[in-house]
Amino acid sequence: MTYEPDQTLTTRQGHPVRDNQNTRTIGSRGPATLENYQFLEKMSHFDRERIPERVVHARGTTAFGYFESYGTWGDEPISRYTRAKLFQEKGKRTDVALRFSTVAGGRDSSEVARDPRGFAVKFYTEDGNWDLVGNNLGVFFIRDAIKFPDFIHSQKPDPVNFEAGVANRAFDFFSQSPEAMHMIMLVFGPRGIPADYRHQQGFGVNTYRWVNAAGESKLVKYHWVPKDGVKSYTSEDAANVQAGTLGSHTKDLYDAIEAGDHPEWELRVQLMDDHDHPELDFDPLDDTKVWPEELFPPKPVGRMVLNRNPENFFAENEQIAFGTGVLVDGLEFSDDKMLVGRTFSYSDTQRYRVGPNYLQLPVNAPKAKVATNQRDGQMAYHVDHAPGQNPHVNYEPSITGGVQEAPKGDDYHAEVGPEIGGRLTRARIERTNDYKQAGERFQLQEEWEKEELIANFVDALSQCDRPIQERMVWHFYMVHDELGRRVGEGIGVSLEDVKDLGPLPTQRLSEEELQRVANLG
Ligand code: HEM
Repeated sequence: MTYEPDQTLTTRQGHPVRDNQNTRTIGSRGPATLENYQFLEKMSHFDRERIPERVVHARGTTAFGYFESYGTWGDEPISRYTRAKLFQEKGKRTDVALRFSTVAGGRDSSEVARDPRGFAVKFYTEDGNWDLVGNNLGVFFIRDAIKFPDFIHSQKPDPVNFEAGVANRAFDFFSQSPEAMHMIMLVFGPRGIPADYRHQQGFGVNTYRWVNAAGESKLVKYHWVPKDGVKSYTSEDAANVQAGTLGSHTKDLYDAIEAGDHPEWELRVQLMDDHDHPELDFDPLDDTKVWPEELFPPKPVGRMVLNRNPENFFAENEQIAFGTGVLVDGLEFSDDKMLVGRTFSYSDTQRYRVGPNYLQLPVNAPKAKVATNQRDGQMAYHVDHAPGQNPHVNYEPSITGGVQEAPKGDDYHAEVGPEIGGRLTRARIERTNDYKQAGERFQLQEEWEKEELIANFVDALSQCDRPIQERMVWHFYMVHDELGRRVGEGIGVSLEDVKDLGPLPTQRLSEEELQRVANLG
């Protein structure tokens, strides 16, 4: 091997390392000395190589590419509905990063777990970053963010013996959370284990708003449709894959991109007038519901291609940070109670997990100009000066050369949003309707799909305590008689055993649902 000066190993202080094999010691057999700077630097950095893993979605992988806007759908310009710059022109490209993940497992856990998949897209737009942090199933288990820590605890290992995947814990929670019925139909159904990250859908799940240049708004839901279709595993397929590797999804994505087989998704949006839609039997701000496509047809707005792998897994996957609060002009929040809670949680955890200056890291920094008066903190990497700014002025307002508010010029849009009145309260939304869409999902399934769903429920519930089994069978009867009967038969719980259980104390059933309970049996 010839010596290449450019390849010289150095310390982080820039000192050339002339011996990386032997610790400096007194005599060849030691002892070592404490002034051994090179050794101490190397070892103490190693000691700090790990950062806390994500509290959820710890196992994941990132790829990069671009989003290309269609500019119109049919004869309509997208600008009629949103003024967000990335959508305005046909063919306009915006760089993206996409992190796929599983939810419940730790950083080295299996990628073929029966679990939703995270689908988080960061758009590096000219107006700053936009993050769309979604999943592959389109709905969620709960509709109020205050339940999230409890929900996640029920999915995580037992806090005493650290046993993972304990069905009794998960179904204890589900059996008291009827809003989860729709989501568990998906998680335990044939789509519950994607075959890889490339052949799966993505959804924004929560309801957002689009706002146009005139300040008019629509409610919006986002859908990503994979060009190469959806592929899933049965529990048996997954067990076979998992016997050989825990990281099959990451490897599949990495290898495909390296081989030039670039995965692609189409982005479609469903739009709804911006009000509470009393005519619907669900609330448009409820993330346990889908919007029927015959009423709200998805409109294609662009496509996304992933064509580049990370150069370093840690820098670009472990340190990437997404949040639901990261929106650009023309894209807005709604009052969806999950979305509001999520928006606090993401950047809060990232200040802890990555550090208060996480937005200065290249993978998180916007490609748009950044000029703030935020200073200091752990690992401050540089100062966010505006070009020509007086570096002494780190406050605003100032007449001595600091940064200034953007002018309220032609491109300024006043805040929009509903007028809100009402008492401070703690209350469920009115239209909970927890079983209807779950029942429709069941009815639409082919017999092989029902068999897989039921087998998966029977397998999980047979590991649960009897009162939890009974409560779940009661819910399944509410979803669909056939589901209740067939799961019940699988675990030895009859209609007679459950029909007097009745609604949960926290549950409000529709007239139709109450009638069903009365008629059971
Ligand atoms: C990650 C909180 C609901 C999708 C995370 C993280 C937290 C969190 C703390 C870790 C973030 C990090 O360390 O960088 C919450 C809370 C929720 C909620 C409080 C409800 C109130 C949801 C829902 C979805 C979702 C409904 C899907 C629509 C994701 C994804 C990630 C994630 C995809 C991984 C992001 C990445 O790849 O870095 N969530 N979450 N979460 N969450 Fe949520």
